[in-house]
Amino acid sequence: MNHLHDVELAKAYRLLNHGPVSLVTFEHAGAGNVMAASWVMPLDFEPPKLLLVLDRNTYSRDLLEGSGAFVINLPARQQAELTLAVGNCTGRGQDKFAQFGITPQRAKVVTAPIVPDCLAYLECRVIDEPGVQQRHDLFVAEVVAAYADARAFSNGRWHFPDDDLRTLHYSAGGTFYPTGNPFKVTMPEGFDE
Ligand SMILES: Cc1cc2nc3c(=O)[nH]c(=O)nc-3n(C[C@H](O)[C@H](O)[C@H](O)COP(=O)(O)O)c2cc1C
Repeated sequence: MNHLHDVELAKAYRLLNHGPVSLVTFEHAGAGNVMAASWVMPLDFEPPKLLLVLDRNTYSRDLLEGSGAFVINLPARQQAELTLAVGNCTGRGQDKFAQFGITPQRAKVVTAPIVPDCLAYLECRVIDEPGVQQRHDLFVAEVVAAYADARAFSNGRWHFPDDDLRTLHYSAGGTFYPTGNPFKVTMPEGFDE
């Protein structure tokens, strides 16, 4: 069953505020690819923008320089092994989707595949900053569509109702942490919220 619903673009940054690891998908000239990326962060509200650090030696970088578009897919617990795998091999000369048994779906707005069963998706178009891209491997992009699994994200907030529906954080050496349980605080007395 498809639980995906659109996320208001002005609130798309909330999908990333807590720093989850991502799968990034690309397509250029009929070739698709997927890699893992931890170094993704929000940059602006409206229009929504984000930053992606993308190593110059990756095959994904070649595809991105051709297409100018990518999708940030936020994996859930069941996709941790996949995240580690696609982050440790190259799609140059091989189809990672076939290799790891992923049947990609189409993104809504940009020309790119998406990985099914992720918790959220942010479709992005690169805002060309050639100097920054060359010097720092850093890509600035506008988020042109965002959607999420309504069981885990609705009304502009993550809920993480059970362990299968939590985003992931990557440390190193194959160690991931699922996003934990929330707690809420209020401003100390005397301060306005
Ligand atoms: C959990 C994880 C996070 C990663 N984060 C990034 C990242 O933020 N930026 C990056 O360029 N590479 C990152 N990598 C490495 C790429 O995913 C890796 O180089 C990948 O093999 C590139 O594949 P490609 O050659 O098919 O594009 C990460 C790897 C893992 C396992």
